[in-house]
Amino acid sequence: MNAIVFDHVSKRFGDVLAVDELSLTIAAGATVALLGPNGAGKSTSIGMLLALSRPTRGTIAVHGRTPERAVLAGEVGAMLQQGELIPELSVRELVELVRRLYPAPLGLAEVLELAGLTELARRRAGGLSGGQAQRVRFALALAGAPRLLLLDEPTAAMDVESRRRFWDSMRAYAAGGRTVLFASHYLAEAEEHADRVIVIAGGRVVADGTAAQIKAGAGGQVVRFALGEQPAAGLDRLPGVTAVEVGAGIATLRTRDTDATLAALYRDTALDVRDLELSGLDEAFLALTGRS
Ligand SMILES: Nc1ncnc2c1ncn2[C@@H]1O[C@H](COP(=O)(O)OP(=O)(O)OP(=O)(O)O)[C@@H](O)[C@H]1O
Ligand SMILES: [Mg+2]
Repeated sequence: MNAIVFDHVSKRFGDVLAVDELSLTIAAGATVALLGPNGAGKSTSIGMLLALSRPTRGTIAVHGRTPERAVLAGEVGAMLQQGELIPELSVRELVELVRRLYPAPLGLAEVLELAGLTELARRRAGGLSGGQAQRVRFALALAGAPRLLLLDEPTAAMDVESRRRFWDSMRAYAAGGRTVLFASHYLAEAEEHADRVIVIAGGRVVADGTAAQIKAGAGGQVVRFALGEQPAAGLDRLPGVTAVEVGAGIATLRTRDTDATLAALYRDTALDVRDLELSGLDEAFLALTGRS
């Protein structure tokens, strides 16, 4: 059973083609990251899944029916990028309000716990910090126990601890066989929390696979360390390495398989490796999205 099917979907706003002939299928139960730079079409795609707007062309199916029907049946929950909370209501009242709209919601205590709001239940929404308000939006997305959860840049404004709790809760929620689609700008976030990463740019899919496949497809990651006066000979023969640069006592290796490269670097060379840095997730992402 597919949770989501986009079949040649385009969405035009005047001169802007926000989504351009997008076709993709997401299986029920998957956790998928929709990755792309500003203006890629992530929020527009999520909006169409929620029936907030209609495709200019093509069709979208959610659990085999139209988005309108799936939303009306209470099958979809969402955390949007914008969205005001009613400031006079308490956190608890807001969650209750949304729970009542769904046929088989989660329990109130469970929602508050999952979103890390148990202690804030009596607080008025209007007085919450940005990160706390974001947790309330997460609670409202979960409250109806939707089979499909759509999260548009869910961790924006959250501090490190809130993020960690948020992702733990998202996983716990997804573990029940539910489908989660979240939009993000960060390949690292996608790598850590999604089974599958769909990269879009200019309204089109530019890469689709596991985070490892996407990194490899974009030319891999970069391993950099201080070499000092030591010879660089042999670095280009390490497994996974596709390019080596040495300058000012710093070695920079491009690799398609960071794990294999690092293991061999420590195991098979006698080099004294210092100040090791890994980077390239952002570079991989830029390479992909810049290409379109
Ligand atoms: N209601 C609208 N009217 C006109 N243009 C729009 C509208 N909504 C989106 N767009 C345009 O469509 C394109 C895609 O926007 P969208 O919000 O889907 O991007 P996004 O991937 O969510 O970006 P971000 O990372 O900044 O949230 C952008 O060029 C945007 O300006
Ligand atoms: Mg957006």
